[in-house]
Amino acid sequence: MSISFHLNSIFILSSSITLILCIQTQSHTSPYINLPSTTYRSKPKPNPITISVTDYGATGDGIHYDTVSIQSAINDCSSAGGGRVVFPPGKYLTQTVFLKTGVVLEVQKNATVLGGTKMEDYPAEQSRWYVVLAEDAEDVGITGGGEINGQGFEFVVRFDEKKNVMVSWNETGACFGDECRPRLIGFVRCRNVRVWDVHLNQPAYWCLHLVQCDNTYIHDMSIYGDFNTPNNDGIDIDDSNNTVITRCNINTGDDAICPKTYDGPLYNLTATDSWIRTKSSAIKLGSASWFEFKGLLFDNITIVDSHRGLGLQIRDGGNVSDITFSNINITTRYYDPSWWGRAEPIYVTTCPRNATAKTGSISNLLFVNITATSENGVFLSGSKHGGLSNIKFLNVDFNYKRWTSYDDGLVDYRPGCQGLVNRSSAGFMMEHIEGLEVENVNIRWFGDRVRKWNNPLDFRPSSVDNISLINFHSNSYRQ
Ligand SMILES: *[C@@H]1O[C@H](CO)[C@@H](O)[C@H](O)[C@H]1NC(C)=O
Ligand SMILES: *[C@@H]1O[C@H](CO)[C@@H](O)[C@H](O)[C@H]1NC(C)=O
Ligand SMILES: *[C@@H]1O[C@H](CO)[C@@H](O)[C@H](O)[C@H]1NC(C)=O
Ligand SMILES: *[C@@H]1O[C@H](CO)[C@@H](O)[C@H](O)[C@H]1NC(C)=O
Ligand SMILES: *[C@@H]1O[C@H](CO)[C@@H](O)[C@H](O)[C@H]1NC(C)=O
Ligand SMILES: *[C@@H]1O[C@H](CO)[C@@H](O)[C@H](O)[C@H]1NC(C)=O
Ligand SMILES: *[C@@H]1O[C@H](CO)[C@@H](O)[C@H](O)[C@H]1NC(C)=O
Ligand SMILES: *[C@@H]1O[C@H](CO)[C@@H](O)[C@H](O)[C@H]1NC(C)=O
Ligand SMILES: *[C@@H]1O[C@H](CO)[C@@H](O)[C@H](O)[C@H]1NC(C)=O
Ligand SMILES: *[C@@H]1O[C@H](CO)[C@@H](O)[C@H](O)[C@H]1NC(C)=O
Ligand SMILES: *[C@@H]1O[C@H](CO)[C@@H](O)[C@H](O)[C@H]1NC(C)=O
Repeated sequence: MSISFHLNSIFILSSSITLILCIQTQSHTSPYINLPSTTYRSKPKPNPITISVTDYGATGDGIHYDTVSIQSAINDCSSAGGGRVVFPPGKYLTQTVFLKTGVVLEVQKNATVLGGTKMEDYPAEQSRWYVVLAEDAEDVGITGGGEINGQGFEFVVRFDEKKNVMVSWNETGACFGDECRPRLIGFVRCRNVRVWDVHLNQPAYWCLHLVQCDNTYIHDMSIYGDFNTPNNDGIDIDDSNNTVITRCNINTGDDAICPKTYDGPLYNLTATDSWIRTKSSAIKLGSASWFEFKGLLFDNITIVDSHRGLGLQIRDGGNVSDITFSNINITTRYYDPSWWGRAEPIYVTTCPRNATAKTGSISNLLFVNITATSENGVFLSGSKHGGLSNIKFLNVDFNYKRWTSYDDGLVDYRPGCQGLVNRSSAGFMMEHIEGLEVENVNIRWFGDRVRKWNNPLDFRPSSVDNISLINFHSNSYRQ
């Protein structure tokens, strides 16, 4: 038995309640989701060679550009059939270097590759502004225990705890405002990519970017970007298939793991066993979402101090299905509202970007074994023309408290859509959904600042159909 609601809103005002709306005995044969079993496939190289950039004249002094030496070593290594290009301890200042087929960069412990800070250090086309860029390459990688550093602080015009003001290289008109800075690492149209045992630090803009890649393995590595720098994303995965991210530590200003679709679909991404801190979304699908996303699994992830936890922001007509989030602990809090996010542990929206954009959809979305301590509730919002269906929450605990001094009472639809809207908070804010199952869910409200918005379920407008609540509890506490 399940129950359907057609309600504008439900307000439950008592200070301590237990709500068991429907008890259903049914074994969970869902997940109705086929978990992707994405694994990395690689073939051993026949005769890998090892070349040191110092043999090609690299100074490693951090003052002189070592671009020519590094590029010659990469070219020779690739021509010889592939192998490793080694950076011994030292600091290697460089303009963009192009990683070629068969080459793995081995940046050793105490070695740092430093990205240039001048516009002439990068290619003419803004789309190729990376410190290390692999284009149309196969069997490429980066490892070695050392560091690649984008010198992001050199791009800060004014440090600001709310949000830094950044340099903008927008002379060409190919980009606008503060989106005009170089990324750190790019793999574009590559196959068999592996990045492991390396520290990617201080990107000036996005950090690690995959574009139209297939078969990528990112593991046992760290990303550290400045917490106050906008667009300091961790890993952006565009239009790529078969990506595995595991045992990573990402601590950065903007979205930490961010799949997008611009020119093609994205299939089979798994991100597991990782730790994330960000002033934006820890995991965000979108907002660029022109094509399909299918078969994504996020498992065993710890998210701390973030502005948003798990986000799906579908704004451009793409369809999203078969997505699982499991075994995830989340802490979300408010930051300055110039950053997108309002402390939501989970945020799902298909509201089109603007009046002319197409409406995408999200279906078969499962949240299982999730624990959150958050300053705001869950936000689930389809759109008038459809959008959200078959969403399931299973074994989920939400602990709502307030510990920062920011005001609540704003719903954040940015980018585009309705922007920021005044509305009181709720445990689950929901609109335009067909098919929501909530099972074994506990909400706990701590302290007067959240008890004043103690509203477990806020349905609006009257467009939430086919909801089943099984073993749903909401209790509030003074402390
Ligand atoms: C790295 O640098 C530290 C401090 O200078 C030194 O103790 C250590 O031996 C170096 N490690 C390597 C592998 O060079
Ligand atoms: C470049 O970006 C800056 C900062 O956003 C802005 O003030 C300036 O007008 C832009 N210039 C051009 C040519 O777009
Ligand atoms: C990903 O897979 C889809 C479906 O097979 C295909 O259309 C697309 O071209 C693939 N993308 C890449 C980058 O290989
Ligand atoms: C996604 O993974 C499944 C299962 O491993 C595989 O059958 C399918 O071909 C993959 N899709 C793409 C586009 O590679
Ligand atoms: C979860 O990930 C952590 C690393 O973040 C790892 O130590 C732990 O073994 C993983 N747990 C499971 C059950 O795989
Ligand atoms: C989440 O917290 C629970 C209880 O505190 C713990 O058992 C579990 O291992 C944690 N999971 C992760 C991914 O940190
Ligand atoms: C509306 O959004 C679409 C992307 O979905 C974009 O291409 C278009 O330029 C936007 N239109 C306006 C008027 O901003
Ligand atoms: C999304 O699904 C709808 C309905 O099946 C379809 O009309 C639309 O073309 C799909 N969008 C994309 C980008 O594939
Ligand atoms: C959820 O947690 C339970 C209890 O810890 C465990 O038995 C189950 O396998 C987990 N489910 C998933 C999908 O990881
Ligand atoms: C939202 O509320 C704030 C503070 O109460 C008020 O200043 C603002 O005008 C409101 N905005 C809208 C769109 O109602
Ligand atoms: C209600 O939603 C569930 C999944 O959440 C789905 O399996 C079921 O078919 C839906 N029932 C109706 C009448 O739409």
